Amino acid sequence: MRKGFFLPSEQGNLHVAIIMDGNGRWANQRGLPRIAGHRVGAETARKVIEAAPEFGIKTLTLYAFSSDNWHRPPEEVNALMDLLETYLIQETETCIRNKVRLSIIGRRDRLSTSLLKAIEHAEKSTLQGDVLHLRVAIDYSARDAILRAAMRLKNSREISREEFSRLISEERYNGHVVPDVDILVRTGGEKRLSDFLLWECAYAELFFLDTMWPDFTPEELEHVVHEFYHRERRFGRVPETAAVF
Ligand code: FPP
Repeated sequence: MRKGFFLPSEQGNLHVAIIMDGNGRWANQRGLPRIAGHRVGAETARKVIEAAPEFGIKTLTLYAFSSDNWHRPPEEVNALMDLLETYLIQETETCIRNKVRLSIIGRRDRLSTSLLKAIEHAEKSTLQGDVLHLRVAIDYSARDAILRAAMRLKNSREISREEFSRLISEERYNGHVVPDVDILVRTGGEKRLSDFLLWECAYAELFFLDTMWPDFTPEELEHVVHEFYHRERRFGRVPETAAVF
């Protein structure tokens, strides 16, 4: 357990989702090409993934490439795709060792054959991981994911929210339900959701941080989790102690 104020008794079963924003600006501020920011950002992701289970995080969803990111200059898109592929190939063994299950969410039909191969290998060989479920969003759009799930329902009977959540979560292998997001973090100073997990974040607590993603640390994540436990989640109800009239 990391030395800090996070108490083991508070550990939960959290789903944390992160919009890793600010790589490009971090690089520009240092006179570096944007891809240098993405490379350091991948290192940050590695540290955060390693620390996450210590903070009671059981599911971690990282926004690595949105469907709108295809509109970036081709050099940046290609460099990002290469980075993601190399990352998956390199990290699969570490995930197996650390019992991390890796899943990729998002569209697959626009990804290269070699990236698809790396994804399939990573997903299949980490299936037994039960310490952390790491989901990386690539070519992801929440509105597309909702649409795709709705289209699969065409002509179907009415279904429950839970069943719809199962469809949306894109679980390919064991069909288990991915829990709703408890904590959504966005680094880089912007305050928007950018088409990320819109269904799953219905009651998420939102944390918008000024830190650029390459500078983000596990300690900041620990602060976020600590603050989360001090927020009152009412899910539309009133506090039990509140006077109604
Ligand atoms: C947003 O910053 C970040 C991205 C589009 C890419 C995120 C990818 C990584 C951190 C690397 C790979 C990660 C994993 C988990 C394999 P931006 O480029 O929009 O930054 P800006 O707003 O400063 O321009």
